[in-house]
Amino acid sequence: MTLLEFENLRVSLGDRPILRNVTLSVAAGEAVGLVGESGSGKSMTVRSVVRLLPEGAAVTGAVRFEGADIASLGAAGLRRMRSRDVAMVFQDPRAVVNPVRTVGDFLTEVLRDQGVNRADALRKAAGSLSEVGVDDASRRLAQRPYELSGGLLQRVVIAAALLTEPKLILADEPTTALDVTTQEEVVAILDEQRRRRSVALMFITHDLELAAAVCDRIAVMYAGEIVEILPADRLHTEARHPYTRALLGSRPGTVPPGQRLRTVPGVPQSALTAPPGCVFADRCPHAEDRCRDTRPAFRGSAACHLLEEVR
Ligand SMILES: Nc1ncnc2c1ncn2[C@@H]1O[C@H](COP(=O)(O)OP(=O)(O)OP(=O)(O)O)[C@@H](O)[C@H]1O
Ligand SMILES: [Mg+2]
Repeated sequence: MTLLEFENLRVSLGDRPILRNVTLSVAAGEAVGLVGESGSGKSMTVRSVVRLLPEGAAVTGAVRFEGADIASLGAAGLRRMRSRDVAMVFQDPRAVVNPVRTVGDFLTEVLRDQGVNRADALRKAAGSLSEVGVDDASRRLAQRPYELSGGLLQRVVIAAALLTEPKLILADEPTTALDVTTQEEVVAILDEQRRRRSVALMFITHDLELAAAVCDRIAVMYAGEIVEILPADRLHTEARHPYTRALLGSRPGTVPPGQRLRTVPGVPQSALTAPPGCVFADRCPHAEDRCRDTRPAFRGSAACHLLEEVR
């Protein structure tokens, strides 16, 4: 069953395009990874689900959640969606958790808003903390954010995200601000908890391997467009788009130690600066005239004119 659906989503700011023709669906319980270089539109895509877009953003096309267009929800509907059906986990937990209130206040806020009494809300919050691996829950509930490490605080944010029993979690680089070992633990907890509860996930990361480990499908974005969508377990064997292949080839670990790490050659384009044909044409080693002139439609998993030639 389709839970979330983007159909020809376009977002622009003034005459500046940000997202173009984003079409993607997320099934109930499915995890979809969004990868791509900085500025490709990953955050804007997930933010458009809950309409957390920059002031003045113009949106066309549709984002549907459980079949209803988000544009038609109104303020109350949007608020309900943000506090119940869709939970968000961002890069920096300290930007999300009120620094002067206790962890317990943060965790129980939404439940209290839903009419749950304080004792029950605290009990649920403590349960949720132990599920994400936070020991000594009652002590933690009384602490304030500065008393917790970044990794611990991100677990608190994940606990809060799970508390309202959402259908979808939007995770925008949830571990980028954490050290490497903590990153792995936090991703493992998010992965385990959302699988156990069959919560759908949109997971933004720069790390293709991580996306492939956590997600069912991967959508690759470049210059405000999705250029390829494929099952995560076939990322290495079936990636067809030259941009996806360039990303795969630029990962650390694919180069023998001591050799220079390859990156995708050329300068990343935005939706504003991208060429009129294929957005990747000016960086693509295979590009032909038609790539520069005509925007490729999706054929199978990728939007590329040269799928047959580039095999
Ligand atoms: N508040 C804003 N005002 C104007 N333009 C913005 C704003 N936020 C993002 N953009 C532009 O929108 C485009 C897409 O940005 P977005 O943040 O979605 O990229 P991203 O893929 O999440 O990148 P990153 O990996 O760096 O987080 C970029 O060209 C960016 O410059
Ligand atoms: Mg981003």
